[in-house]
Amino acid sequence: MGSSEPVWGIIGGTGLTAIDSLEVDETLETETVWGAPSAPLRIGRLGGRKVVFLARHGDPHRIPPHRVNYRANIEALRQAGVDRIIAVNAVGSIHPAMTPSSLVLPDQIIDYTWGRAPSFHEENLEHAVHVDFTWPYSESIRDALRAAAAEVDVAFRDGGVYACTQGPRLETAAEIRRLEQDGSDVVGMTAMPEAVLAREAELDYACLALVVNWAAGRTSEVITMDDIRSNLDAGIGRVLQVLEACLRA
Ligand code: HPA
Repeated sequence: MGSSEPVWGIIGGTGLTAIDSLEVDETLETETVWGAPSAPLRIGRLGGRKVVFLARHGDPHRIPPHRVNYRANIEALRQAGVDRIIAVNAVGSIHPAMTPSSLVLPDQIIDYTWGRAPSFHEENLEHAVHVDFTWPYSESIRDALRAAAAEVDVAFRDGGVYACTQGPRLETAAEIRRLEQDGSDVVGMTAMPEAVLAREAELDYACLALVVNWAAGRTSEVITMDDIRSNLDAGIGRVLQVLEACLRA
């Protein structure tokens, strides 16, 4: 793909297994040294830009967050020529102002996951690799998403701490209180190690999060998949509007 045209990667999470408005030129079944990505890469155009779309949980959605091969996903996108990635993640809300079906542009992560392969640099190393991760998300992509949201008049919360839990179960109420005390605003299961692998691969990466439920214990209700689905349905159109405006810019 050696042209100088930027190539955007979009990693779609729960509720975004495909983008209907993506004009797909090629569906690429690919392998990496880390194994196969979650789904074939859909390579095409969106908002006039070259885009490589990957369904994080597979197409159809069947891979739970703790079983996603994050290394294969990031490596497959890199091999396809992607140099910047927008990750779409469904999250629960801890912060009272981040209401279900609203959008959040997180700027920080706390990683509570365990047992996931957290690095490309594990074996046969000449020296240990410690990437800087002070600011886990790309400020230039966050700027682009911010401008896009303003252009299409979609409200979103600018900044927030994404707590990444192991899943696949949801949290207990006490765990959510602890995450809040730690400074977390939203909780999800897929930010990590995806974000740090993108950093190791030197790809610009940012997250556009869609709130799909109040986190455990934030209301007196139990969290149902039906509620999650209806908040996804209510918000995903706005996610797509922002994505398309961002790529058009
Ligand atoms: N917790 C963890 N992950 C999630 C949630 C949640 O409440 N909602 C969507 N992903």
